[in-house]
Amino acid sequence: MKIMVTGGAGFIGSNVVDGYIREGHQVIVVDNLTTGRRQNFNSDAVFYEMDIRSPELRTIIEKERPEIINHHAAQTSVPVSVNNPLEDADVNIKGLLNLLEGAVSSGVKKFIFISSGGAIYGDIPGAPADEEHRIEPLSPYGVSKFASECYLGYYRHQYALRSVILRYANIYGPRQIPRGEAGVVAVFMNNLLNKIPSVLNHYPEDPDGMVRDYCYVKDVVRANLIALSDTVEGIYNIGTGRPTKTIELYRIIYEAVKEVMPDLPDYLKEPERAPARPGDLKWSCLSVEKAKFQLGWTAGYSLSEGIRETLKWWKKKIGK
Ligand SMILES: NC(=O)c1ccc[n+]([C@@H]2O[C@H](COP(=O)([O-])OP(=O)(O)OC[C@H]3O[C@@H](n4cnc5c(N)ncnc54)[C@H](O)[C@@H]3O)[C@@H](O)[C@H]2O)c1
Repeated sequence: MKIMVTGGAGFIGSNVVDGYIREGHQVIVVDNLTTGRRQNFNSDAVFYEMDIRSPELRTIIEKERPEIINHHAAQTSVPVSVNNPLEDADVNIKGLLNLLEGAVSSGVKKFIFISSGGAIYGDIPGAPADEEHRIEPLSPYGVSKFASECYLGYYRHQYALRSVILRYANIYGPRQIPRGEAGVVAVFMNNLLNKIPSVLNHYPEDPDGMVRDYCYVKDVVRANLIALSDTVEGIYNIGTGRPTKTIELYRIIYEAVKEVMPDLPDYLKEPERAPARPGDLKWSCLSVEKAKFQLGWTAGYSLSEGIRETLKWWKKKIGK
């Protein structure tokens, strides 16, 4: 199959590109390298260094005629979206519309859109949120992700463009850059490997931090492979359904690093504490029953297995 992956030089997108190529698909990557990296780039793919908002993008879609567009490129930072909602909407909405217009005029069969469960369900203490959960985005980033989902509904209705929406939980694994909250695994791991204290942000009522659903990127790649299937359409949460507090995550990473670096100092056993940042959700965890029953997909990696796999990559990267 010929597939265009936007954001294919980024953390998750590049892992998806590798997965598609491993399965024998032909891949075209569009990425402007704002946060993506050249070293993530798979040389078996065709690469266009281009902004998804560029008018030339439609010419590329017309020329390459992919059967499927998998759209991972985005302005992904919640704080950036809060400080600059116009920039967030420009990339996430205008970029999406540019792609969708190109898709319908070039006969693309299906559009796989990457949304965010954490960002669109809002603060959801209690049971993991399923796909029917109330939508209550608390940031412009969440708003742009949900608005994108609505646009996909419109293009399905108006142009019969089929779509799959994958609402990700917190994804971690090789190639994640330590930055912001979404990169907390990378931040803790990088700090511990370099013997630097980490900061755990928390609300006053709970010094153990916030709850998140951490899903290993290789499981996410499998979901993107399943999404290619002709019979798959609709909205699916992609996560583990397991709530994890930041302190548990930190301890799992600490133990994994200690196994490979026995001289890790004891003072790093506990992170430093700092107040939660504006916009930090207290609780976010996704129900993945729909993906399990309709797609036969579940996350195969436990958190400690995924952390150990990620650590192997980090050790190689920093030469330890
Ligand atoms: N990491 C997570 O936990 C998480 C959770 C929920 C959803 N997501 C979504 O998954 C997708 C991938 O996220 P990621 O964590 O791999 O982030 P990332 O920053 O590593 O990847 C985003 C990629 O998009 C590219 N890009 C950004 N703006 C672009 C533009 N205007 N034109 C062309 N390319 C552009 C970047 O260069 C980068 O390669 C995003 O849509 C993000 O919103 C991620």
